Parts: sequence; C-alpha cells; structure tokens
Amino acid sequence: MNNAANTVYLNGAYVPVEEATISVMDRGFLFGDGVYEVIPVFGNKLLRAEGHLERLHNSLGRISLQNPHSNDEWMNLFTSLLEKNAGEDRAIYVQISRGAYPGRDLGIKTEYPPTIFAMVLHVTPPDIDVVSAGIAVVTVDDFRWGACDIKSTSLVANVMLKQQAADAGVDDAILIKNSMLSEGTASNVFIVKGGVLITPPTGHKLLSGITRDLVIEIAKNNAILVEEREIKEAELLDADEIWMTSSTREIAPVIRLNGELVGSGKAGEVWKRVVDLYYENKQRLRNGSA
Ligand code: PDD
Repeated sequence: MNNAANTVYLNGAYVPVEEATISVMDRGFLFGDGVYEVIPVFGNKLLRAEGHLERLHNSLGRISLQNPHSNDEWMNLFTSLLEKNAGEDRAIYVQISRGAYPGRDLGIKTEYPPTIFAMVLHVTPPDIDVVSAGIAVVTVDDFRWGACDIKSTSLVANVMLKQQAADAGVDDAILIKNSMLSEGTASNVFIVKGGVLITPPTGHKLLSGITRDLVIEIAKNNAILVEEREIKEAELLDADEIWMTSSTREIAPVIRLNGELVGSGKAGEVWKRVVDLYYENKQRLRNGSA
C-alpha cells in the first residue's frame, strides 16, 4: 500500500516522480520545518476535503507559514493530480515546507517561497475479513512535544514509537502521557465501555483526526453514546473494545493489548455497527450521493 504514483506536483508543475527534486537546503529536509495532510479519495471523490483543508490551514498558521492557496486552488490542484494518476481508492498526500534558504539558520525569513509538494498514494481497499481479524498493540510512553495538534512533518518521535511496537512484535503502539491515553503513532484511539464510545478530547496532546470526527458523527447519528473525555491508562486496559482510526487505517479494531486480549478478543459489536456505517458512507461518496 501507499506507493507513490508516477506524476507528482511540485511548485507549480506536474512532473514524473523521478524528476521532482528539491534543494538540500530545504527546511523541510534540514529541520522537518513543514506540515502535511493525507486525504482519502474514493472513486475520484475526496473524503471530507473541507476538514482536511481547514486542518492544513490551521497547521500552517500554527507554524507561521502563510497558506499558499485558497481552498478552490487546492481543490483544482488535487483534481489535476488525480486526473494524471488513474485509480479508484487512493489518497492525496500534500506537504508544504518553509522552502530553501541560502544558510542554515532557524530564524524565519518570509522572502523565500515555500516548497509545495503533492502526490497520489495508492491504497489497497481494506479486506473486511483481514480488518476484522484485528491488530495487536502495546502501550508506550508518549514522549512527544506539546504541539501534537499540528500535522507536522517532523515525525521522528512517531517513527521511534512505531519502532517500539515493531520491536515488541506487534502492529502498532498506543501512546500514554502521564497515565492518560493520547493517541496512536499515526491514528486516534477510541474505547468502548458499557456500550459507550469514548475518546480523548482534542487539544495539544493529539491530532484532531478527520476520521475521528466522522466516527463521532456516525455514532451520534445512530444513537450510540459518545463521550469526549480523558481516558486513564487503567480504563484502556479494562475496555470492552479499542479502535484506532485514521484516513489510511480507517477503523481498526485492537484485539490484543500488551499481550492481553481486549474484551472477547474479537472485533466488537459496536465496531461492527460503526464500520458498516462508515463503509456505507464511503460507498455513497463513490456513487456521488454523499
Ligand atoms: N496520520 N494522529 C496522528 C498522529 C496521525 O498521524 C493521524 C493521521 C491521525 C488521524 O488523523 P486522520 O483521521 O485525519 O487521518 C491521528 C496520517 C494518515 C498519516 O500520517 O499518514
């Protein structure tokens, strides 16, 4: 999954990926000084484009980088890129870095243009049998910074945390800060307890996921109680169900946590209801009726 397709967008041009090059002085390369988005595409329709563009705008604002495009311009750019990279289920990756300065200096100078890059990622449509088999995770200490609401390209902490999961022989890690759940290495986390769907509130400790918003909306529209509140590590260990959500993972049930079974050790009933509704929503989008 997630192989880049051939034609990418770089600073105003659509070029083959092999020809898309940037300066080694780019601050995205030197400092991870940039932000990004990943937007799912089903049948040429972008899922929640407005939410992703709003979050991109907010991330840019948080790092004092001007949004180089209006939403209409972004949408035109994405449409052209999709036209040049055929496919069904895909995702758009878009990244803006602060560009290349002549010297290596942390200070911001506004006279240099940002580097704007976008590509199409191929996504293998999830096989429901594989997804419902669930994933195994471990809890790890969330040692990241205090601005996790920014979708920053500085992902070395997430890389290290994901490696801790790999070292433990499991699929992913759930991050715990001061005995409280924050999120996954690249996803948000929900628990179900007594039929209630619970997820930590947004803030600086986690990324405000677009899939998270959609899951909350679907649950509320279907009479599932939702609580956005802090979750203690102990509650996580005692949950009936645990899910990890993201644009690329969609809604993944966790069936093993730190070697112990979660609930019954199978994808739960609430997950089944919500994932069905999520897939229906995706199908409506593909058919142009969402
Ligand atoms: N990551 N939290 C983190 C740290 C993430 O990196 C992501 C998404 C999410 C979920 O956000 P959304 O539902 O909007 O995808 C939460 C993307 C998919 C990535 O980095 O590839």
